[in-house]
Amino acid sequence: MYTTLLTNLENGILTITINCPDKLNALNKDVFNDLDAVMDEVYNNNEIKSAVITGAGNKAFVAGADIAEFSAFTSEEGMVLSKRGQDVFFKIEKSPKPVIAAVNGFALGGGCELAMACHFRICSDNAKFGQPEVNLGLIPGYGGTQRLTKLIGKGKSMELHMTAQIIDAQEAYRLNLVNHITTADALMDKAKELLLTIQSKAPLAISKIIECINIADLNDSAFTNGESGYDREAKAFGNCFSTSDMKEGTTAFIEKRKANFTGK
Ligand code: COA
Repeated sequence: MYTTLLTNLENGILTITINCPDKLNALNKDVFNDLDAVMDEVYNNNEIKSAVITGAGNKAFVAGADIAEFSAFTSEEGMVLSKRGQDVFFKIEKSPKPVIAAVNGFALGGGCELAMACHFRICSDNAKFGQPEVNLGLIPGYGGTQRLTKLIGKGKSMELHMTAQIIDAQEAYRLNLVNHITTADALMDKAKELLLTIQSKAPLAISKIIECINIADLNDSAFTNGESGYDREAKAFGNCFSTSDMKEGTTAFIEKRKANFTGK
């Protein structure tokens, strides 16, 4: 079904593996088309409760945008490519179902940007992160300047972007770029353990968490449409009261039993 991705659905978790290991899973037009389509599947297939994105092979998550593909682009073509990448990554970030990155090696350039578009990140102890675009006379085009700054703060983001420094898993953890480090062998089990925990909570509440945290940055017009994060939070909070899951969750608490959430 996909030419550049492998997918596997198990226990409600869709594992999405970018599968071009001979190019270190570099992002080209086909990968973007497939990521776009697989996110439609995540949004629309009721069997899918959450997703994890990883890279094929043991060397790279994604080593960046496919440099060969865009090396001869005009500025117009570059802008179109950037918009396309941003739109696909927004689709991941705005997914109503949790999408996490399991970073299993190099996450450079577009690879780091892809990981940052996910709701949060875990990585193996051999992972490496960076925005080395200035090495190519470029800057990140898929939201890296925005998301890295939000995740690790302005000064450190400036430094990493300007120096093109590649950081290891420990430094990424220290900077809050990743939430957990595991051995390479334990990475996918850790991702699945986290997603199963999330899947045991009320799905509509989880999607509202994603929506509200996405607009925590009040200046981000991609998410706010002029509305403040507090207004959106209040509205989303109110909406929860009309759901069966909220009634089930509160009733289960009172009855001292485990809630059985249905997503309604
Ligand atoms: N775009 C296109 N092809 C890429 C790529 C990218 N971003 N990253 C790696 N590849 C290809 C290499 O060209 C090579 O292909 P080949 O075997 O046909 O020559 C193959 O993947 C393996 O990469 P190689 O460089 O030989 O591996 P390495 O272990 O020596 O180095 C990296 C690994 C990640 C340090 C190095 O590949 C690299 O610096 N990649 C580019 C990172 C980057 O600048 N990303 C931002 C792009 S905007």
